Amino acid sequence: MIELKGIRKVFNPGTSSETVAINNVNLKLESGDFITVIGGNGAGKSTLLNIVSGSYEADEGLILLNNNDVSRLPEFKRAPYFGRVFQDPMMGTAGDMTVLENLSLAFRRGMRRSLFRWSCHTQDKEFFIEQLKTLGLGLENRLNEKVGLLSGGQRQALTLLMATIRREPSHHMIRRDYVRFYDGDKKLAKDEFDKAFKEAKEEFKKRKAEIKSSNASKEEKKAQLKEAFEKFDKKVRVFDLTKPVLLLDEHTAALDPKTAAKVLEITDEIVKKNSLTTIMITHNMKDAIKYGNRLIMMSKGNIVVDINGEEKKKLTIEQLLEMFNQASNDMLSDSAILGD
Ligand SMILES: Nc1ncnc2c1ncn2[C@@H]1O[C@H](COP(=O)(O)OP(=O)(O)O)[C@@H](O)[C@H]1O
Ligand SMILES: [Mg+2]
Repeated sequence: MIELKGIRKVFNPGTSSETVAINNVNLKLESGDFITVIGGNGAGKSTLLNIVSGSYEADEGLILLNNNDVSRLPEFKRAPYFGRVFQDPMMGTAGDMTVLENLSLAFRRGMRRSLFRWSCHTQDKEFFIEQLKTLGLGLENRLNEKVGLLSGGQRQALTLLMATIRREPSHHMIRRDYVRFYDGDKKLAKDEFDKAFKEAKEEFKKRKAEIKSSNASKEEKKAQLKEAFEKFDKKVRVFDLTKPVLLLDEHTAALDPKTAAKVLEITDEIVKKNSLTTIMITHNMKDAIKYGNRLIMMSKGNIVVDINGEEKKKLTIEQLLEMFNQASNDMLSDSAILGD
């Protein structure tokens, strides 16, 4: 869960170039929310992400991560909790290092997120290969190549992986951290976890019995069991507080349309597979509608549109454009009234 309360950011205050980049933003994301952000140039989108990640400090307001106030936490201390991908493919990876070296670096950084719980294992390489395979770009065959030789799209996909890679904690570890970071009565946290765990496990057991007694083939049964376990596992992982929050700032804008579409698909898969809380800025309204479960539009440092669930699914580009024009008109009439 991540919550922004009364965020305000003014650049160059008291000078002729004073800019209110963020006026007053309140936003609450539940764990696993995938939110897309649109808005015109200078609307404050990038500034907002920079404030969340700690690159900029807000002048006013609070940022809560799993109920903990991180507003005053310096960027390097916040870094383990966030994975970022920027527009420029050169930024997220080291071009003169190999694919494997880049991943190892990111993996070690990711471990801080999890309180040093994992030491480096020799099977890391196997794990990296497995992860690279999921991208479907053949990078698992190019482990020792310099990243500088890869295309922009391949680099962005690798950056996405680096921003999110980590070894999955066990159910036991998830429970421990959930209780540890819970803001309030720890007994409640334990009970909440245990109840959900029990329910998920009961359901899994029931399904397992069903599968075993069915007359499906051995292969089919195996696949069904795997699916049932994954469902159970996913329900437990909802409680995992040490997952990174993914922050994407127009990360496909520098790619050709076909590559951009592929990288977006990869993004969606990674987000879904790990149920990551995600904020994705895009200038593409179609993508903003297609991806995620919630959409916000920013204008002049404010959130002017906030749509989620079914309503978002039904949204059309025409409607969105209409809202965009409306927001711009409101802005114009505001400035007409204010006389600037
Ligand atoms: N480091 C900075 N110094 C001064 N002004 C800035 C800085 N970063 C952003 N701004 C200004 O803040 C406003 C919002 O910028 P930004 O968040 O980059 O918008 P967006 O990403 O929506 O295009 C713009 O007017 C921009 O010029
Ligand atoms: Mg921007």
